Amino acid sequence: MTSKIAVIGFGNIAKAIITPLFDKKLLNPKDVYCLVNTKKSLENIRKNYKYDINIFQANSKASEIIWDCKVKLLSVKPQQLKNIIELEKNKNNLLVSILAGVSLEKLIKKFPNHKCVRVVTNIPITIGKGLTGISWGDKITKDQKQFIKRLFENSSKIYEFPEDLLDIFLSVTSSGPAIIALIIEALSDGGLSGGLQKELSEELVMEMILGTVSLIKETNLTTAELKNMVTSPGGTTISALRVLENRSLRSALIEAVVSASNRSKEFH
Ligand SMILES: NC(=O)c1ccc[n+]([C@@H]2O[C@H](COP(=O)([O-])OP(=O)(O)OC[C@H]3O[C@@H](n4cnc5c(N)ncnc54)[C@H](OP(=O)(O)O)[C@@H]3O)[C@@H](O)[C@H]2O)c1
Repeated sequence: MTSKIAVIGFGNIAKAIITPLFDKKLLNPKDVYCLVNTKKSLENIRKNYKYDINIFQANSKASEIIWDCKVKLLSVKPQQLKNIIELEKNKNNLLVSILAGVSLEKLIKKFPNHKCVRVVTNIPITIGKGLTGISWGDKITKDQKQFIKRLFENSSKIYEFPEDLLDIFLSVTSSGPAIIALIIEALSDGGLSGGLQKELSEELVMEMILGTVSLIKETNLTTAELKNMVTSPGGTTISALRVLENRSLRSALIEAVVSASNRSKEFH
């Protein structure tokens, strides 16, 4: 990758996207120009980040260099977006936003001199197991699309969507990890209630989930087939499932996903 890249907001997620590209030598740290807001973050990155990148504090004169980069990755928090002021003349440059819930329409208004791309990614990207959804704005060339995909494909699987599906994609993939964490916690508490040590209970739940997902993926069983396989007449599993149906777990999970998607739409 040869283009110079600016990263507006070199925080957790930006680091997760960019660092593997340095690790694999797909990107040269010298070609990356990053911005942070505070002196504290600036000094911390200069002292502790393992690569020698060009890093600036927002609003400093030196930081204006980022606007010369052909590609900008925007990764501040959505509420910090109002502080970013576009300084751009070349209308062919790209702005790629990973801000949760911020629509292409809003990005285009904020950055009228850029071609905008909206990306949704999720927290497992920090260990290279993310899921990334991309919605392209207008007039993005094939080469530009290829370049953007290469930024994310090292740390995530990529899905391209029309923008109206990005909110539900965000809900399933970005809120999903919190839902799964809650389920792990609750099932572990079940084990604890039955007398298992907390750590052992949590380990068993996580291994069980990993094993179950692998089984479904490797054998192509449907979820219904798997459920039927382990549910015998009058047995323990149907007894557990009956409790969950009684307490409307299925409906609660469906409503949780829809609710997160609706909330994301409110940020547009
Ligand atoms: N966390 C997640 O699970 C997740 C998943 C997918 C997508 N996202 C999206 O990713 C974005 C970043 O999240 P994050 O967790 O990486 O946040 P973060 O760690 O707080 O990073 C935000 C970065 O933006 C910098 N910043 C703030 N104001 C700025 C300004 N005016 N100019 C330049 N830089 C500025 C901050 O600098 P300082 O450190 O100096 O304040 C920090 O480096 C969010 O929009 C979020 O919606 C997050």
